[in-house]
This record gives sequence, C-alpha cells and structure tokens, in this order.
Amino acid sequence: MRKSGPIQLENGSMSANIESYCKLLSLSSVADNYEHMAMDATKTKISYQEYLYKLLQQQIIDRVDRSVNAKIKKAGFPYIATLEMFDFSFQPTIDEKLLRELSTLSFLDDAKNILLVGAPGVGKTHLAISIGLEATKQRRRVKFITAEELTNELIAARQSNTLANYLEASSRVELLIIDEIGYLDIQKESASLFFRLISKRYEKSSTIITTNKPFEEWADVFGDEVVASAILDRLLHHSYPFLINGPSYRMKELFKKKKQKTEQVSEIPIPEDENI
Ligand SMILES: Nc1ncnc2c1ncn2[C@@H]1O[C@H](COP(=O)(O)OP(=O)(O)OP(=O)(O)O)[C@@H](O)[C@H]1O
Ligand SMILES: [Mg+2]
Repeated sequence: MRKSGPIQLENGSMSANIESYCKLLSLSSVADNYEHMAMDATKTKISYQEYLYKLLQQQIIDRVDRSVNAKIKKAGFPYIATLEMFDFSFQPTIDEKLLRELSTLSFLDDAKNILLVGAPGVGKTHLAISIGLEATKQRRRVKFITAEELTNELIAARQSNTLANYLEASSRVELLIIDEIGYLDIQKESASLFFRLISKRYEKSSTIITTNKPFEEWADVFGDEVVASAILDRLLHHSYPFLINGPSYRMKELFKKKKQKTEQVSEIPIPEDENI
C-alpha cells in the first residue's frame, strides 16, 4: 500500500516538471540556471533563501537585458557606437563635458534637442548613436532614421491617408534621431511634412539632428526659406548645438592604413646585387 503524504518524484521527472512550470511562468532564466546554481549553492553552503534570491536576481538581469536588446533592435541604429569608443582628443572642438552630461539624458525630460553640425567623418552619427544607445539602456523609446528615410515615410503616410496617425506615433517616440540632413535636397512639399513632424514634437519630446550643412544653408536643403527657418526655429529654441570643426576620422583611418602599407613595403629588404 502506498504511504499517504507528498508524492515523491524521481529526479528526472522533477526536473521536467520544474522546466515546464518555468515555461508556464515565463521564467526561462530560472529554467536555465536552477541546476548549476543549486550545485554551486551546495558547494558554497549558502542558505535556501539566498539560493532563491540569486536565482530570481539572475532572471531579472536576463529579462532587463532582453528588453534592452529589443529596444536597441527597434531603434534601428545603423551600427553600435558608444561614448567610450569616441576619441575626444581627436575632435577638440567638441565640449566633452557637456556631451557626457547629456548622455545622462536629463535633456529628454526637458524635451531639449541636440544638433550636431559638421563636415563628413567628424563623428556626428557616432555621437548621436551613443546618446541614443544610453536612452535605450534606460528603456526610453528611441528611433534612428535618416532624413531621406523619414521623408519617404512621411510621403507614404500622406499618400495612404495615415499622416495624422504617423505624426501621432512619431510624437510618442521619446528620442528621435534624424541623421544626415543636408546630403540630399528635400522637395518643397516634403519640407512642409517635415515641418509638421518637428512642430508636433516641439516642446514635447527630444530630437537629435546631424547635418553637414551650416544652418544658413538649410533654406537650400528644404527648398524654402520660410519653412526652413520655421523648422530651425523650433529645433534650436531649446537645444544644445554642437558645431564640430575638425578633421575627418575616416581620413585618419585611411591615412593610417596607407602609412602601414608603405611602411610594410619599405621594410622588405632590397637584395644586394654584387654586380652593381
Ligand atoms: N573621434 C572619434 N573617435 C573614434 N571614432 C570616430 C571618431 N569620429 C568618428 N569616428 C568613427 O569614424 C566613422 C565615421 O564617423 P561618423 O559616421 O560619426 O561621421 P559623420 O560625422 O556622421 O560623417 P557623415 O557626415 O559622412 O555621415 C565611424 O566609424 C565612427 O565610429
Ligand atoms: Mg553620419
């Protein structure tokens, strides 16, 4: 006759049950870690309570990582760049202290903008991504888009009669990064859509702009002086403009590679010809 009391399970079926319970409760990290952490706990003689604490802590860390990763993916950065990777000594016109302060993201709460202006290769996109990345780490809603893609999306939204929804959704993005204003001219009719977007976000949410064109030339970019100055007015009103005046980092890398090549060539020993 079977004794009454808790049903005794064999180790194998207990593991299978734990794993299916974890699945039911969406605790994938617990399922992955409970066994080896239990072995560690036995070795280090920590209490049951401490074991459970560590196991749940790991679950939280993994979940945060996953949600941050999802946010990074959704933001659409063209590559991953951080402030740690940025060599400020190469670009001394950038106010490093201010930039580091901005990377703490207080500007988001004040709905302020950052404008990065400079010639190709000075690090505008790199810096914009770095700050965007910090924002995703703090689980803010971030979207990275080039001016060209944005213009196309705005036109498509208008054509499909969904412009109001598109503008509404855009205004909910906490940090919008618009990259490469100035490389392609924006048609006059798209410029007014652009204006509507900036206007909708004005004083509500932050935007980072990168541009190779000084502000005086924006009238040419947008094909209309009035619209261009209305856009600029709103962007600049509460903003941190950075005018980056320096050499291209891409050129530095190129020269470094070229130099390495010529050094390698000159290191090849020239055979001595005794007949000369
Ligand atoms: N000061 C720097 N330290 C380290 N890497 C840098 C620095 N400046 C730029 N880079 C690197 O050089 C490359 C070009 O930089 P980035 O794309 O930010 O230039 P940009 O100003 O946006 O140029 P463009 O106007 O052509 O888009 C990137 O790979 C970036 O990571
Ligand atoms: Mg760029």
